[in-house]
Amino acid sequence: MPAIELPVADVVAVRRRTRVGALLATGTLACALAAARRGRRRVSRPLFARWYGVLARRAERGEIGRRRQALLTQASGRVLDIGAGTGEAFKHVPGTATVLVALEPDPAMLRQAADRLGDGEAPAALVQGRSERLPFATATFDTVVACLVLCTVGDLAFTVAELHRVLRPGGRLLLMEHVRASDEALAQCQDLVERPWGWLHGGCHPNRRTLEAIEAAGFRLGPLERYGFPVLPHVQGVAVRT
Ligand SMILES: C[S@@+](CC[C@H](N)C(=O)[O-])C[C@H]1O[C@@H](n2cnc3c(N)ncnc32)[C@H](O)[C@@H]1O
Repeated sequence: MPAIELPVADVVAVRRRTRVGALLATGTLACALAAARRGRRRVSRPLFARWYGVLARRAERGEIGRRRQALLTQASGRVLDIGAGTGEAFKHVPGTATVLVALEPDPAMLRQAADRLGDGEAPAALVQGRSERLPFATATFDTVVACLVLCTVGDLAFTVAELHRVLRPGGRLLLMEHVRASDEALAQCQDLVERPWGWLHGGCHPNRRTLEAIEAAGFRLGPLERYGFPVLPHVQGVAVRT
């Protein structure tokens, strides 16, 4: 496994051919500070994690699974999966990946993800953390995977700025997300249901201007596949870090 700097205090699990010796600590003090910050802004939704685990396994057997697999064939080199959830993406990570780092803040999700960490072809590590403040050096990754997560992160602008920072120039952001409806009447429906929708779906915002935020952070969006219900439009594609 290529040496990659991981915040050792936040590593939850490592799997297959991963030599812990290759994971370099970023320093005890930095880790202690990160832990203190996490404590103040904890993400913990055990009921949602249990419900999502069942739902995600079922979805994985249908269209979502096929789409996720098609998207992940484009992952290569050092791969970061943000908001990994229950780890549904892991088994789709191809042999072109040299290492997978999965990041997830919620302990209940992390427990399920840890069981799947060895499912892919690359050596893998699971790290507890939030995407608004990624514990990785600048230009560490060749690929970042964002599946159904940019709708949920606490701060979208901070997150996409961090994704831009940790990707090398020319690196790829693989996206499978739902976004704000382009039809204004439907977008207003999304605005209306945002709060209750979030309570039921682990803090998800159905009405985010995700694609606009990605472009504003300095990515070049490629062609996007669009699918899903008009009131919850999904997009899938690649954004290149400029
Ligand atoms: C709908 S789930 C998607 C999980 C997975 N990516 C998938 O495709 O099945 C959203 C995930 O984002 C995680 N999440 C929430 N806030 C986050 C943050 N600030 N940074 C990273 N992940 C976050 C949640 O804990 C949850 O696991």
